[in-house]
Amino acid sequence: MAASLRAPRGTRDRLPEEAAAWARAEGVAAELASRYGFERVDTPLFEAAELFVRGLGEGSDAVAKEMFRVGGAAGSEDANAAWALRPEPTAGIVRSYLEHGMHVRPGPMRFWLVGPMFRYDRPQAGRYREFTQWDVEVIGDPGPAVDAELIELATRYCAAVGLEGTRVHLNSIGDAVCRPSYRSALVDYFTAHRDALDADGRRRLEANPLRVLDDRALDPELAAGAPKSIDHLCPACAAHFAAVRGLLDRLGVGYVLDHRLVRGLDYYTRTTFEVFPTGREGSQDALAGGGRYDGLVEALGGPPTAGIGFGVGLDRIVLAMSDGGIPGLPAPALVVVVGTEPGDVAERLVVANALREGGLRVRPDGSERKLGRQLESAAKLGARWAVIVGEELTRGAVVLRDLADGSQREVPISEVAAATRADDQ
Ligand code: HAM
Repeated sequence: MAASLRAPRGTRDRLPEEAAAWARAEGVAAELASRYGFERVDTPLFEAAELFVRGLGEGSDAVAKEMFRVGGAAGSEDANAAWALRPEPTAGIVRSYLEHGMHVRPGPMRFWLVGPMFRYDRPQAGRYREFTQWDVEVIGDPGPAVDAELIELATRYCAAVGLEGTRVHLNSIGDAVCRPSYRSALVDYFTAHRDALDADGRRRLEANPLRVLDDRALDPELAAGAPKSIDHLCPACAAHFAAVRGLLDRLGVGYVLDHRLVRGLDYYTRTTFEVFPTGREGSQDALAGGGRYDGLVEALGGPPTAGIGFGVGLDRIVLAMSDGGIPGLPAPALVVVVGTEPGDVAERLVVANALREGGLRVRPDGSERKLGRQLESAAKLGARWAVIVGEELTRGAVVLRDLADGSQREVPISEVAAATRADDQ
C-alpha cells in the first residue's frame, strides 16, 4: 500500500480485537463517573489555539512543541484561523463552563468526558499523537476533601479495570503566594549546578525552573538534593496539603511523596498527583495524572474559582490490561438468522428484528445461498447460534441450532432469547 495511505505516525486503528478491552475501560469510567456524581460534557476536538496558550502556558511542551495547529479550508474566510486540536480537555471544559454561565449555577460542578486528545510528541509504546483520555473535573471546590476523593477515584478506577497494585505519587507545588520563593530557591540551586544540566535542562531553568525537576535526563543525585516544594509552602498551602494527606490515610489510599512531580502544564497549584502501574514508574508510563488548578478559571476570564481534576490515559490502561492478561467486556454471543428457502430473505430480516428486541446480538444472512452454505458462513463468523427460518414460522417458531455441537430444536420466536441464555449458563 502507498505510504500515504497508512494511518499517520503516532495514531492507531482500534481494531475489533481490542473492542472488548476498550468497552471495559470506557464502561468502568462511565459507571464510576456517574457513581461519584459527575455529569458528562463533550467539548470540541479543536478550539482557539489561544485557549491552550492562556490555559496551559506558552512554555509548556503541550503548547510550545506539541500543538497540532489547524486552519479552515483553503480559500475560506477561516483559512488562517488559529485553531488547535485539543492537547488535553481541562482548558476546553473550563472555557465551556464560563461560556455557558455555569459559574453562576449552584456549585461545585462535576464534569467528565472521554475522548481523543492530540499531541505532536515523539511516538513510542504508550505515547501517541492521538490518544484517548477519561477526564474528570470539579470546578468550584477548594478542597481538601475533593482532592482526596479524586485521588481515591483514580486508584479505584485502575483496580476496577483489573489493574491491582498501582502506586500514587503525590506532591504539592504551592500557589501564587509561596511559589515565587520556591522558584527562586530552585533557580539558586540549579544555577549553582548549571554545569551538570544538559541543554534542555538549561532551557527549562530559564523558561520554567520547576520543569527542570521533571526532566528525566536530570542526574538523580542532583534531583534528590534540589529544594522541595513542600518545604516552601505558605501556611495555607501547608495546611491544605496536610489535610489531603490525612484524608488519604483515612480512605486507605497509599501514596509516595514525589517532590519531582511538578506536572507539565502551567495551570497547576497545590496538589499534584500521578498514578503508576507497579514496577513501571518512569515518567512516560503514568496511567493517570492531575491536580489542582485554582488559578485557571480566572486566567481564562472568569471569577477566582478553585478547580481540580485528572486525566486517565485509556490507551495505556488497555495496554496494561493486555500485558496483565486482564479480560475485557466480551460482546454477547452472536446469532445468525438463516433461511431454508432463497425467497425467505424478508422473513429472516423480520425474525432478526424480533430477536434483537429480545436483547440478542443478531446478523441476518441476506444471501440466496443454500442453507448448508449459510450455516458454514455463520460458523466462520464466530456465531454461537443459528436461527433457521422455515415452515415453523407459520406457528411463530424457528429452529434454533447450537453451532458448537450441531444440535437443534424448534423454539417459539418469543423464547429464543431465553433458550440461548439458558444454554450459555
Ligand atoms: P496529562 O498528565 O498530560 O494531564 O495526561 C493525563 C494522562 O493522559 C497521562 O497520565 C497519560 O496516561 C495520558 N497521556 C498523556 N499524553 C499521552 C500520549 N501522548 N499518549 C498516550 N497517553 C497519554 C492532563 O492532560 C491534564 N488535563 C489532567 C488534568 C485534568 N489535570 C487537571 N484536570
